[in-house]
Amino acid sequence: MRKTVGFALTGSFCTFQKALATLETLKAADYAVIPIMSFNAYSLDTRFGDSAFFREKIEEITGNEIIHTIPQAEPIGPKKLLDALVICPCTGNTMAKLAAGIADTPVTLAAKSHLRNGRPLVIAVSTNDALSAAAPNIGSLKNRKHIYFVPFRQDDPTEKPNSAVADFSLVVNTVDAALRGEQLQPTLLGG
Ligand SMILES: Cc1cc2nc3c(=O)[nH]c(=O)nc-3n(C[C@H](O)[C@H](O)[C@H](O)COP(=O)(O)O)c2cc1C
Repeated sequence: MRKTVGFALTGSFCTFQKALATLETLKAADYAVIPIMSFNAYSLDTRFGDSAFFREKIEEITGNEIIHTIPQAEPIGPKKLLDALVICPCTGNTMAKLAAGIADTPVTLAAKSHLRNGRPLVIAVSTNDALSAAAPNIGSLKNRKHIYFVPFRQDDPTEKPNSAVADFSLVVNTVDAALRGEQLQPTLLGG
């Protein structure tokens, strides 16, 4: 049967174009996709584009309305709406909240609500502090049941020595593996 994947975007705006392409790959892999956005991802216009542009594209590609409020995210667990949830891109901010058990955005509540069903949560990290302030959170989340990581690498070791970004082209493979209860390997990619 066709599986349903939640695709949650948080405020790593520089990766939003890549996230749109990733949505297309999930659709091409025959997943039904429910989009979710953090308050910031949904509402902020940045130098990488206007929020209205991304909202429109996301709804166009997925054919579904974006979950962007806490009340909209809450039923995800009780109604078992998703087979898997992907946070792509996932900010350092959202990982810190997830690691601390904070659920005060549509995305963090979606994760909490979804995890209560023991179903996979897949994180595609994109943050400048992956190897510094966010590192303990990545370790903590990686050590939890039902949480998987899209393989990631340092994206600019010279200019941003603590930055790491998931390889978005591996999102579909990571979701496929997570639905089998497996972490796609290697998790840590070379330069
Ligand atoms: C233009 C712009 C780009 C950003 N890029 C990133 C990023 O790549 N990774 C990250 O962790 N935070 C990034 N941030 C900061 C987050 O958007 C900020 O921490 C925000 O509070 C995240 O909220 P959210 O996790 O609920 O979406 C960026 C902010 C701006 C304005």
